Amino acid sequence: MIDLKIAGLRIAALLVLPILWAGPAHSQQPAPPKFSEEISKQDGIYQSRGITVPEGYVIDRSLLSYTFTLPPEFIDSLATLGPKDRWLDIGAGEGRAICDYSTGKYDAMHFKDRERPAKRAQSIAISIEDRRELYWHRTAASLEPNQIQYFFGKRLRQYSLEELGKFQLITDILGGFSYTENLSQFVEKTLSFLKVNGNFYTLLQDVRSENGTNRPHYPGAPFLTDLVNADGSELKVCSWLKRITCVEVTCEFKAKDAPPVEVYRIHKVCDNATVPALSPVHFAAGTPPERRFQSSTSSPSSPERTSTTR
Ligand SMILES: C[S@@+](CC[C@H](N)C(=O)[O-])C[C@H]1O[C@@H](n2cnc3c(N)ncnc32)[C@H](O)[C@@H]1O
Repeated sequence: MIDLKIAGLRIAALLVLPILWAGPAHSQQPAPPKFSEEISKQDGIYQSRGITVPEGYVIDRSLLSYTFTLPPEFIDSLATLGPKDRWLDIGAGEGRAICDYSTGKYDAMHFKDRERPAKRAQSIAISIEDRRELYWHRTAASLEPNQIQYFFGKRLRQYSLEELGKFQLITDILGGFSYTENLSQFVEKTLSFLKVNGNFYTLLQDVRSENGTNRPHYPGAPFLTDLVNADGSELKVCSWLKRITCVEVTCEFKAKDAPPVEVYRIHKVCDNATVPALSPVHFAAGTPPERRFQSSTSSPSSPERTSTTR
């Protein structure tokens, strides 16, 4: 259901030699030149405008698209938000999904037999670059002040709790979760903004599925997001997520999408979640970028302790 036009940029990515940068995940050491070069190419994609926006960089997905793409529980999470709850959309692009929710565009689908709340949850969109269009400005002007807000100019990791506050619902559709060069730090930060009993819904394209039967979508290319253990053995994204403490994780692989997508529901059950560290070892700019991360541990001693599987 999501627009998955990434082939051109994947081909470019394949020409980039693997970058062996296995510094600690939260290392302050400067990145090697090749890594920095890819990061600056990636910045070029964020700052692209008009005809320079790569075809695969989709920034205008509707709430309907979010609903069809994310796990089915997303509809319930959205429909049960009250006026005092808050929704954060990380990597919101133009912020269409938030506008659609706030104006009730797809209410018939989201609320069905439920009573529609008189007032919607406050909703915050964040994006590295300002992608707001007239649609956003008109919607914001038609609502109470700060009912919807758009923050830009920073990455998620640069926000404090004081700036953003906490949220009952967090989403990320091909935003920071797919684009960050530091996955474990990104998830740690995201969970710090999530309230206990709240849900984080996200996805990744072209990853090894939880049951491990699929191969990379593009022949000769690696998975788009590839994780390995310290000893070099394969680590599935779903298994890594299930090693995080204080969360319950559900993974669902959508093999029929092209490229296939794994969608995740991460339900927070207690504070102070511990996210197993990953170090970036390869990053090639793209939409999304091609990334490889290495865990500092070889294999989990008690995997999937807090997890559930669909
Ligand atoms: C391909 S667009 C997706 C937009 C939107 N979710 C949609 O589906 O239409 C990627 C978005 O992620 C944002 N992004 C990437 N990395 C981010 C990060 N670390 N923190 C915040 N936003 C990020 C970009 O600025 C952009 O808004």
